[in-house]
Amino acid sequence: MSTPFALRPLVAADHEAVARLLHRSLVQWYQSRLGQGARFGDSPEPFRLFPEVYAALDPGAAIAAHDHASGELIGVCFVHPRQTHVAVGIVATAPEAQGRGLARALLTPVLAQARRDQLPVRLVSSLLNLDSFSLYSRLGFVPHTLYQDLALAVPPGGLSNPPPPGADRVRPVTDPGQAGRLATFELEWQGIHREPDYAFFLRNTVGAWRVWVLENAAGALEGFLVASHHPSCVMLGPGVARDEAAAAALLWRALDALRGRTPVFLVPCAAAGLVRACYAWGARNVELHAAQALGPVPPARGLAFPTFLPESG
Ligand SMILES: CC(C)(COP(=O)(O)OP(=O)(O)OC[C@H]1O[C@@H](n2cnc3c(N)ncnc32)[C@H](O)[C@@H]1OP(=O)(O)O)[C@@H](O)C(=O)NCCC(=O)NCCS
Repeated sequence: MSTPFALRPLVAADHEAVARLLHRSLVQWYQSRLGQGARFGDSPEPFRLFPEVYAALDPGAAIAAHDHASGELIGVCFVHPRQTHVAVGIVATAPEAQGRGLARALLTPVLAQARRDQLPVRLVSSLLNLDSFSLYSRLGFVPHTLYQDLALAVPPGGLSNPPPPGADRVRPVTDPGQAGRLATFELEWQGIHREPDYAFFLRNTVGAWRVWVLENAAGALEGFLVASHHPSCVMLGPGVARDEAAAAALLWRALDALRGRTPVFLVPCAAAGLVRACYAWGARNVELHAAQALGPVPPARGLAFPTFLPESG
């Protein structure tokens, strides 16, 4: 039997429809299951940033599903192929199309391509949304790291707690020539490599990014953290730190630069000291995410800060 939809690469002409679909799908899902639709706001406009960022990073990689009968966009899946793995970003289907295998159909060609390329697939999935968790689990993904999503309303005058040790050694970098250094550090500590992402953040032409680095007295990298300052997505990550102290210094500095705003960031639940520090600065739990992988997860040291844009589980 033929499917009632057609899959094809997402194009720029789809971006407005994608923003509407993401907003509609998220609001409907979170409102009907959890009474939390309001957290996604009234307007689809902020969601345009997602297709725009992915189109700039991975042109032609995202997949759209259109309904045969109406021609309407009814599903989207963002795909982010990297040297060591493939990341999958938001998967969303139209409320009226859910429960009919559309999300599975969107992911099937992505997983088949990753298998041919012999690459693991990685993502972060919400533990509030068990439909998405089970979608990925049924496809073979296995959770490996648990993260708490924290939100922190940064006072207009800056964080009131004193900076943790090392925060004075955190500095911004803007030179795209630094991308290789950040990517090498991530490969060494987390076993994944994605230099084009760091070149993209440092070029800073789509979105609004800041990149912070922490170096020791000898100038060696101890961690880095990217921050999205775009009004559509005020979020910290991706980032990597060699230990909780380095992570705290980076987080404090990146948060303090977002005065008057409420960034969201993901912290490994296992980093108990770091979580306590975040609470002391005023952070609140807003969600839980699991990093899941289909295929081997390389041994990791230190801490990672995943983000949803671009997906970086
Ligand atoms: C999550 C979402 C993408 C799923 O889309 P969908 O088109 O309904 O998914 P499918 O119909 O392909 O179903 C996927 C699988 O999960 C299974 N499933 C769904 N809910 C389940 C549950 N609670 N327990 C076990 N399995 C479940 C389905 O049976 C199906 O399995 P099968 O293919 O082996 O039969 C959709 O609900 C959505 O867009 N939600 C809002 C946006 C969102 O939150 N996206 C995910 C976060 S990025």
